[in-house]
Amino acid sequence: MSETKAIRRDLTNAPSCLKGEGVTRYFHTGKITTKAVDHVDFDFHEGELVSIVGESGSGKTTLSKMLLGLLKETDGKIYFQGKPRDISSRAKLKEYWSGIQAIFQDPFSSFNTFNKIDTVLLDCINMRGGKHLPMEKKTEMMTEACSFVNLKFAELTNKYPFELSGGQMQRLMIARIFLLKPKILLADEPTSMIDACSRATILDMLLQLRDEIGMTVIFITHDIGLAYYISDSIYIMEHGKFVESGPADEVILNPQAPYTKRLISDVPKIHEPWDLSTVG
Ligand SMILES: Nc1ncnc2c1ncn2[C@@H]1O[C@H](COP(=O)(O)OP(=O)(O)OP(=O)(O)O)[C@@H](O)[C@H]1O
Ligand SMILES: [Mg+2]
Repeated sequence: MSETKAIRRDLTNAPSCLKGEGVTRYFHTGKITTKAVDHVDFDFHEGELVSIVGESGSGKTTLSKMLLGLLKETDGKIYFQGKPRDISSRAKLKEYWSGIQAIFQDPFSSFNTFNKIDTVLLDCINMRGGKHLPMEKKTEMMTEACSFVNLKFAELTNKYPFELSGGQMQRLMIARIFLLKPKILLADEPTSMIDACSRATILDMLLQLRDEIGMTVIFITHDIGLAYYISDSIYIMEHGKFVESGPADEVILNPQAPYTKRLISDVPKIHEPWDLSTVG
C-alpha cells in the first residue's frame, strides 16, 4: 500500500495553464436539448492538481472532451497557456495535443490492439522528437518509463496491450504520459475499473507526475473522497454547472453549496486521515 501523502499547495497565483469562460455544450436529440455543460468558468494553473467532481451525467466527460479538442463547444472560450486556444486545423490540433494528453476510464479502448507494447512506447518517444536517437537510448527511456510505473520493460517487449491486466494497462498508459511529458494530463475516472490497491498506486503516480515533472493534472471523478485526498483545488459539478470551486480544504471543510454538502455527507469519514485500503 502506498506511503505517499498528498501535499496541498496554493497555486492560485501560478500562471494559467487552461482557462475557460462560459464553456458550454448542448446536445440535441429530436426535440430534447440536454445542457451537458452549461456556461462553466475555470482556471487551472501550472503544476496544479485539480479535481472535477460530480455524479453520473453531470457533464464531466463532455467537458473533458471539449478540453481535449475532441468535441466542439456550443459556446464559450478556452485559453491554453494564457492565449485563446487555436485548434482550427489538423496541424494545430496535433500541436495542442503535444501539450495535453488524457487517460480514460477504460484503458482497453485506448490502445491500438495490433501494436505491441514497445511500439506503443516507441511512438511516444518519436512524437517527442526522439526519432533519431540511438536504439540504446530509446530502450533506456522506455525502461525508465516502465520502472516509473512499476512495470518491467524486458517482460513487456513482445506483448500486446490486451495481454495485460486492467491495472497493468492503466500503468502502461501512465508510462506513455511519462514519456510524452505533456503540460496537462487529463485523467477521466482512471481508477474506476481497478481494485483498491492498484487505485492507490495510480493516484500516487498522478501525484508524482505533478511533483516531479510539474504537470497540471485534471482528475475527473464522482468520488469526492478521492478528490479530497489528492487535490490542490476542487470544482464541484452538478447538472452541467460548477456549483462550487476553490482550494480543496475550503470546499470540503467549509462547503457552501447544498450539493457539495450532500456529496460530503455520503462519505462517512472524509475529515479523518485517509486509510487508502478503505477507498471504495
Ligand atoms: N453524444 C451525446 N449525445 C447526446 N447526449 C449526450 C451525449 N454525450 C453525453 N450526453 C448527455 O450529456 C450529459 C452529460 O454526460 P457526461 O458523459 O458528460 O456525464 P459524466 O459526468 O461524464 O457521467 P459519468 O460519471 O457517468 O461518466 C448526460 O445527460 C448525457 O446523457
Ligand atoms: Mg464520464
